[in-house]
Amino acid sequence: MDSPTVREQGRPRGPITVPMIATRKRRAGDLPVVMVTAYDEPSARIADGGGVDVLLVGDSVANNVLGYEDTLRVTVDDMVRHVGAVSRAKPSALVVADLPWMSYHLSVDAAVANAARLVRAGAAAVKLEGGAERVAVVEAIVRAQIPVMGHLGLTPQSVLTMGGYRVQARDVDAAEEVVSSARALEQAGCFSLVLEGVPDVVGARVTDALGVPTIGIGAGPHCDGQVLVFHDLLGLGAAPVPKFVRQYARLAELATEAVETFAADVRAGTFPGESESYHGSEELQRVFGGAAV
Ligand code: KIV
Repeated sequence: MDSPTVREQGRPRGPITVPMIATRKRRAGDLPVVMVTAYDEPSARIADGGGVDVLLVGDSVANNVLGYEDTLRVTVDDMVRHVGAVSRAKPSALVVADLPWMSYHLSVDAAVANAARLVRAGAAAVKLEGGAERVAVVEAIVRAQIPVMGHLGLTPQSVLTMGGYRVQARDVDAAEEVVSSARALEQAGCFSLVLEGVPDVVGARVTDALGVPTIGIGAGPHCDGQVLVFHDLLGLGAAPVPKFVRQYARLAELATEAVETFAADVRAGTFPGESESYHGSEELQRVFGGAAV
C-alpha cells in the first residue's frame, strides 16, 4: 500500500463519508475535523489537495464569488451550479452544501425537495442555519436519507434580525439557548454542527454537550473541528478579514502583480515570445514571413 503523502497525513485515505465525520470527537482522541469552503472546480481541487476533510459549498459564495453584500441573494439554482462545479473536482473530501435562505423556511416538503436538488448536484450532505425552530425540517430531511449539518451562533442568513454580523451568545441566557438548540439539533439527527461567532467558552460548552462534532468558525479552539472560508485563508478577498481568520497566504496581491507583469510585457512587445508562438510549415513561413507589423 502507498504511504500517505505529507499533505494527506491526518486524513484517512479514500473518500470521506458522513459516518466518518459524525463520530469525530477530540475528547475521544480523534483529530480535529478540517473544513474549508469551496465554490468551484479549482477551489475544490486546491482544498482537497491540501487534505481537508470537508468541502463546504457555502452560501458565502454570495460574498466571495458573486459580489453580493450578504447571503440572502443566493438561490437554490445558484447553489446547484456551484455544487456541481465542486463535485466535478472529484474530491476525496466530503461535499456539504448550504441550503440557502428561503429554501427551507416555507415548508418541510420544499426543504426536502431543495435538499434533494443539492444531493443530485453532487452534495453528500446539506447544512442549514437555526436552532430549535429547525427541528421539524431537520427531521424530515434526515428521514429522506439526506445527512444534515446544523449551524448555530452567528447565522449570516439572520443578518437582518441580528442587525449586522455580531458575536452571539455573549450573556448566560443566550449561551444557554445555544446549548439547548445544539442538543435539539443533535436529537433531530444532525451529524455535526457549525458554531459561528460565539465566545470560546460557549464553543467549549456546546462541544462538551454533544456526541456529534462541532466545527467552529470564530468559536474558539475547543471545537471538534475548524472551518475557514477559502478566500479568507488564502487572502483572495478585497474586504478586511474578521478577527478569527488566520491568513495563510496573500494570493490576491500575488495575482495582481502577475497581471501587472503580463500587461507590462504586452505593452513592451515582449509577449508573446518565440517559444509562445506557433510557427507553421516552412512554406507558410516563406510565403507569409515578413508580414509582421
Ligand atoms: O457559507 C459559509 O461560508 C459558511 C461558513 C461560514 C461556515 O456557512
